Amino acid sequence: MSSPSYHTNSLCKYLVILGAVAVSSIFVFFNQTYTISESFYGNIFTIKCQKRLLQPKETATNLSHLMFVVVGSPRTWKKRRNYVESWWRPNVTRGNIFFDVEPSKELLPWSPTFPPFRVSENVKKLRFYPKLRKPSHTRFYRAILETYRLMDEGVRWYVTGDDDSLFFVDNLVDVLSKYDHTRQHYIGTNSETIKSNAYFGFNMGFGGAGYALSYALVEALVVKLDECVEKYHFIWAVDMIQSLCLADLGVDLTLEKGFHQMDLFGDISGLLSSHTTAPLLSLHHFATVSPLFPGMDRPGSVLHIMKPANVDQSRMLQQSICHVRACNWTFSVSWGYSVHIYEKIFPRSYLKLPIETFRPWYRGRPPVFMFNTRPVSRDPCEAPHWFFFDSIEKENDGVVTSYTRKFIRNMTSCSFSGNISADPIASIRVFSPKTPRQGRKVECCDVEYEGDVATMRLRDCRRDEIIA
Ligand SMILES: *[C@@H]1O[C@H](CO)[C@@H](O)[C@H](O)[C@H]1NC(C)=O
Ligand SMILES: *[C@@H]1O[C@H](CO)[C@@H](O)[C@H](O)[C@H]1NC(C)=O
Ligand SMILES: *[C@@H]1O[C@H](CO)[C@@H](O)[C@H](O)[C@H]1NC(C)=O
Ligand SMILES: *[C@@H]1O[C@H](CO)[C@@H](O)[C@H](O)[C@H]1NC(C)=O
Ligand SMILES: *[C@@H]1O[C@H](CO)[C@@H](O)[C@H](O)[C@H]1NC(C)=O
Repeated sequence: MSSPSYHTNSLCKYLVILGAVAVSSIFVFFNQTYTISESFYGNIFTIKCQKRLLQPKETATNLSHLMFVVVGSPRTWKKRRNYVESWWRPNVTRGNIFFDVEPSKELLPWSPTFPPFRVSENVKKLRFYPKLRKPSHTRFYRAILETYRLMDEGVRWYVTGDDDSLFFVDNLVDVLSKYDHTRQHYIGTNSETIKSNAYFGFNMGFGGAGYALSYALVEALVVKLDECVEKYHFIWAVDMIQSLCLADLGVDLTLEKGFHQMDLFGDISGLLSSHTTAPLLSLHHFATVSPLFPGMDRPGSVLHIMKPANVDQSRMLQQSICHVRACNWTFSVSWGYSVHIYEKIFPRSYLKLPIETFRPWYRGRPPVFMFNTRPVSRDPCEAPHWFFFDSIEKENDGVVTSYTRKFIRNMTSCSFSGNISADPIASIRVFSPKTPRQGRKVECCDVEYEGDVATMRLRDCRRDEIIA
């Protein structure tokens, strides 16, 4: 039996003929009691292949082509529904949330602002159930299989995540449309911490960060999924089982840096203020990191960060840096999240390193993280003034985001560069022009200030402009 993952027209035609010959046996199959067998999927594939032949030339990937596979539990739903609800777009995003048991009466009637819920198939029915290291996790993995069986009409990508994963769906569409969904792709990211990756695998797409599987890959995977779970029954982490199963299918992880597992503790503002130059795709682990914004609770900060995200996701957390030479200040905006003012001229090469405000899950001797960091500093030449996202307004030719000071810096001014204190600045307005969203590059900016308000204007960088 060949792997059902070919998409060449000639093979499709061949299968159509095969399908026609086998048409009576297909109906026999459908009438029979349900069994997971290769030939069952083989016939399904023949039918799907026929459908695809009739379709006109394929259109650009849009949100309707993404199928979300979210796994949660009614026990945690009350706390976590805010996260899911904040990114889910009713009647637009497609997918389900899989629960281990039926939700209790107090969670019903089910709100149409949530993804529809499904109760996972009982893994106790699996022949190899007694062998499983962590049966509750097997349920997570099989949600992909169950989703595939439920619906696949027009699906190009299956995107999996937890109920405490926040997705930025417009950016997901932009990133995934770079890849051919008719080929086998496994797209995700590993952890921020070296130890997590060493333990679980540098080639693993971490499940909470979320990862995307192309339709062609899922089509091949589901045939062998249960078999593979049995083979790796001794491993407890399902995302690790996934990476091993896909490796054995001949498919390795493609890294996209915009997914974030967030295997971190504490204040992640340092990381979010120097985000990598890649579209923000997801954030995870809201229970272990502090609220994203000072003075706000977790659900409140998730709603708050979605305000700019709902206007322009392609700019979310993208860092732009500019200088006020006259007073030796550097401004750095992480769009939609924060602005830093430094009382010294710093180059981009330095400011793109996150300030280490956070701690890793697994402590140990450095290096701990998968990226370079800057230390939190009490040196007035080194420590920024912090401003956080406050509000967003649309204007005719662009968007204005405003950032305000949430706490005083409580330091003297930087004497090395002239003792000019930025303490009087209370808020910063950032103008961003309307520009095509896809393939956004690093943007440059100009900055000026008057009284207690500074204004930054984002623009394309000049061809040989140096940000320093
Ligand atoms: C998405 O693409 C499909 C074609 O595959 C098209 O029918 C649909 O209108 C598109 N949706 C949007 C929102 O553009
Ligand atoms: C979703 O669509 C259904 C029927 O098409 C409609 O009744 C419902 O109001 C829509 N829900 C939202 C939140 O737009
Ligand atoms: C400011 O710093 C001084 C000395 O470092 C400290 O005693 C004081 O409590 C700080 N004030 C605030 C508001 O943080
Ligand atoms: C800016 O800093 C430099 C030292 O790096 C100093 O020589 C210069 O006087 C400063 N400019 C102002 C306006 O203070
Ligand atoms: C900044 O102020 C300190 C003391 O307030 C002074 O010693 C230093 O010379 C000043 N630096 C500059 C560059 O003016």
